[in-house]
Amino acid sequence: MTPHVETYKQYPFTVATGDGARLRDTKGRSYWDLYGGHAVALLGHAHPAVVRALHEQARQLTFYSNVAPLEIRDRAAEAITQFAPPGLERVFFCNSGAEANENALKLAIQQTGRTTIAALERGFHGRTLLALSATASEKLRAPFADVLTPARRLQINDVDDLSQIDESVAAVIVEPILSIAGVIELTPEYLGALRQRCNDTGTLLVFDEIQTGMGRLGRPFAAGAHGVMPDLLTTAKGIANGFPMGAVLMTEEIGARVATDDLGSTFGGGPLACAALLAVLEAIAADSLLDRAAALGQHATEVLRRGPVTAIIGRGCMLGLQVNGSARPLWSNLLERGFVTGTSGDPSVLRLLPPINTPTEALDELGAALDDIGA
Ligand SMILES: Cc1ncc(COP(=O)(O)O)c(C=O)c1O
Repeated sequence: MTPHVETYKQYPFTVATGDGARLRDTKGRSYWDLYGGHAVALLGHAHPAVVRALHEQARQLTFYSNVAPLEIRDRAAEAITQFAPPGLERVFFCNSGAEANENALKLAIQQTGRTTIAALERGFHGRTLLALSATASEKLRAPFADVLTPARRLQINDVDDLSQIDESVAAVIVEPILSIAGVIELTPEYLGALRQRCNDTGTLLVFDEIQTGMGRLGRPFAAGAHGVMPDLLTTAKGIANGFPMGAVLMTEEIGARVATDDLGSTFGGGPLACAALLAVLEAIAADSLLDRAAALGQHATEVLRRGPVTAIIGRGCMLGLQVNGSARPLWSNLLERGFVTGTSGDPSVLRLLPPINTPTEALDELGAALDDIGA
């Protein structure tokens, strides 16, 4: 027993160190980490360029608040808005995914003067109050039902249901691929119709790219695919490869309307987070990691449809392995064989969210393990 409150169901081993896509536990056993600490270890553990950047920045300036301009913060803002597709020219830095969503929704409510939000069935957006209002899980919402903001729940990929979005809705927030729900992609038709409906009703469209962003899909963000751009985009998780950071990207028009004191966060955009983000973006460019993420996803579809796996869903380094029945026994079996994977809200889908530079050999070894497990 430790003094921690028991809020997390934990792995049956204690992690000691990580190196790339490998993890080592306190007993010296090593694992392929195909879950990346819940999509955070974008470039793998202890990535040398990120470690170097953090070390050098810590020596120069560990922290100063947002009242002081910092060159490193300006460079980070420049770099992430350049990395994002055109149309998201401004950014607000914070510390986590929930904080990014909370601020995106606050901005939407403030700027539209409306108080209702809309989000997808089975979507997950975090646990702060506005983010939780958008989150679908009744189990998570129930204790706070009286203090949550009204949210309309849209059926996934149901164009007709978009009629729920009207002139009273401030924002619609969606994950372009619903990860926790079980790697469910929004169709191009749905995304196009969603954009159009938001245009027609003056509702702001927010893409929650906390998992899909930062190159995981083989492109910088899902935004821009099929020509659909959001008004606001939130990202976190792998943005600084494990150093806590979140970001709200937004159009020039929305950004220009943000006034002093509308948003704030003591640690948001701190120099260490910014140094790590810059190192991540430099490594993605230098090592062609968008291409590698896409190639890894392709490789997965070639080598993982074996044994108990009936289909591979998702793209790039956000993948679901579909099985018949419950995926939970497979999760445990793979862990015993030295592969960390993730379950999902869909009992028959096992998720892979590996670092985008994972060697293909990791997937080959997983394929061999699946063969060995059998159907
Ligand atoms: C899609 C999505 N949105 C928001 C969040 C919340 O992020 P955080 O845990 O950093 O607050 C998560 C976390 O899993 C997520 O997957």
